[in-house]
Amino acid sequence: MFERPSSAERAVLVHVNFRHLFEQADLHEFSELTLAAGITPVATVTGLRDKPDPKYYVGKGKLEEILQVITLNDATLVIFNHELTPSQERNVQRYVKCRVMSRTGLILDIFAQRARTFEGKLQVELAQLEHMSTRLVRIWTHLERQKGGIGLRGGPGETQLEVDRRLIRARILTIEKRLEKVRSQRQQGRNARQRAQVPTIALVGYTNAGKSTLFNTLTGADVWVANQLFATLDPTLRSLEVAGLGKIVIADTVGFIRQLPHTLVDAFRATLEETATASLLIHVVDASDEKYEDNIHQVNQVLAEIGAETIPQLLVFNKADLLNDPAYHAGLAERDKDGKITKLWVSALKGIGLDLLREALQGRLSIDRVHGVLHLTPEQGQLRAQLYAFRVVIQDIANAEGGWDLVINLTKFQWDKLCQQYAGLSQAFSAL
Ligand code: GTP
Repeated sequence: MFERPSSAERAVLVHVNFRHLFEQADLHEFSELTLAAGITPVATVTGLRDKPDPKYYVGKGKLEEILQVITLNDATLVIFNHELTPSQERNVQRYVKCRVMSRTGLILDIFAQRARTFEGKLQVELAQLEHMSTRLVRIWTHLERQKGGIGLRGGPGETQLEVDRRLIRARILTIEKRLEKVRSQRQQGRNARQRAQVPTIALVGYTNAGKSTLFNTLTGADVWVANQLFATLDPTLRSLEVAGLGKIVIADTVGFIRQLPHTLVDAFRATLEETATASLLIHVVDASDEKYEDNIHQVNQVLAEIGAETIPQLLVFNKADLLNDPAYHAGLAERDKDGKITKLWVSALKGIGLDLLREALQGRLSIDRVHGVLHLTPEQGQLRAQLYAFRVVIQDIANAEGGWDLVINLTKFQWDKLCQQYAGLSQAFSAL
């Protein structure tokens, strides 16, 4: 339904530095984003201003320069690393006579190409429609210009525009209804997990940090991994057995990025809900990225926006294989005074440091857990079956009475429920 840039599209990138902002422009990331959308960046135009020009965002002189660079490079698209208003986008487009895209448009485009699940696709389409509805005029003006119909008012274009607006509104409503249904199904799944007290861990991190690779390594799942920004859009849930912990659910989430446009944070709130309700966040950091500290900060900012800032975090520095110090190659951890791991270095790709990660997870999730030996008589087969169904049995030894001695590790919540159900359970239990 959407006109998407073809791979042959050649773009001129525009970035304006503002005098009051001390932050250095990340032009490398901007061009990476462009590549991730399948567009070839052919030239970059930068400028310095106090504030955006109300009509064109940049000044007339800069606009003229952009026009020349477009002609020189045979470009078909101009991408601004900023948020332009619909009218600025339209005005620039008229001036340079080729398509203009803003940073939001670019990110939406990448999201559209990467969406995997039904829900993800719906979310992206919704965000695109909402983004587009304010910019609709532009398309028709553009077409009219192509037909040489400059100045046409109230003609067939205008009627078509009305039809388009109505169709878009109807489509938005349909998508919202479908999304509501998908979300309520997900909520039910989440409720069931909460009832069973299965801890959920969400992998969060800056885009390209290696979340999917770590997820794959941990779960043995074949999730999409690609050296592209935003390869993952939808959270993918897998259950994982951790020795001594039993079953946990792990979620791979969308990568965060600086200046994530607000409309996108809203649009992907549902995707990020898995994060907001997790028991623990594994914050994956690309340790080989020189800007890793800033990336951590950016991720924490998005987490705060979705109300996940109070969830405990485990910092995992990934891509340790790319670091020079051999200590990192072997996997390294920082611990607090009780010996609990607070930070660790791994290589998801090479499978280094995963034992440390498992240990750290055990340390972090063992709060409010019950671990010990339960002595069962031969009559208690039903309870034994229930413990197996909970996946909390670590060891099972036949005892002299014909019953079983089970080494179990379960949440306090599960234990308390069992104690209510089966009288005298605590007397048959000895903690380890
Ligand atoms: P988004 O979907 O953009 O959020 O990315 P992600 O965080 O899920 O990253 P992904 O797992 O797709 O990995 C990005 C790139 O980094 C891929 O090319 C991986 O092969 C690479 N990578 C991941 N982990 C490691 C690692 O431990 N070492 C090295 N050298 N490369 C890694």
